[in-house]
Amino acid sequence: MKKIAIFASGSGSNAENIIRFLGQNPEISVDSVYCNVPGAFVLQRAEKYGIPAYVFNRCELQDPEGILKQLRERTIDFIVLAGFLWLIPPGIVEAFPGRIINIHPALLPAYGGKGMYGMNVHRAIVAAGEKESGITIHLVNTRYDEGDILFQAKCPVTPDDTPESVADKVHALEYQHFPRIIEQTLQQL
Ligand code: GRF
Repeated sequence: MKKIAIFASGSGSNAENIIRFLGQNPEISVDSVYCNVPGAFVLQRAEKYGIPAYVFNRCELQDPEGILKQLRERTIDFIVLAGFLWLIPPGIVEAFPGRIINIHPALLPAYGGKGMYGMNVHRAIVAAGEKESGITIHLVNTRYDEGDILFQAKCPVTPDDTPESVADKVHALEYQHFPRIIEQTLQQL
């Protein structure tokens, strides 16, 4: 049994999609959800599925006796970042080599890095008059959005598109691909 911890900061629609998809795989367990935003909707989604959720602050994330210790105590095998907005500290990256995955709502390396998240990304794409956008699923290292790319999928962007309509297209790609790529990556561990 491979045990996953999901880290999220916001609504958690990707987290819920992952929980539902992997719930059909007896070899994988979504063990727990970790969130840095008290009251974030992802916490209600976790509760709906009976998955323990932990809210933490920056000190607890940075402290080796904090979140890292808890991940070890829960024997977590793999970490999924599903809309988690903070940088993962080096101590956790080093403890989970090749075992932390993230989804970014654009075609990295473009439109990545600190501050490029959520609607900021889609607004920048529309403002730049890009003809396409998409998703990037990548391994996580100690720098924002720079780990090895595992998968990308594209969607067209037309002059009629708004940041909101681009977000809808990108979310559709996320829900279609992220759980499957997570499952495939776990099977190769
Ligand atoms: C998604 O667009 C994802 O690409 C980005 O953060 C967003 C999370 O959305 N990393 P949700 O919280 O899963 O609805």
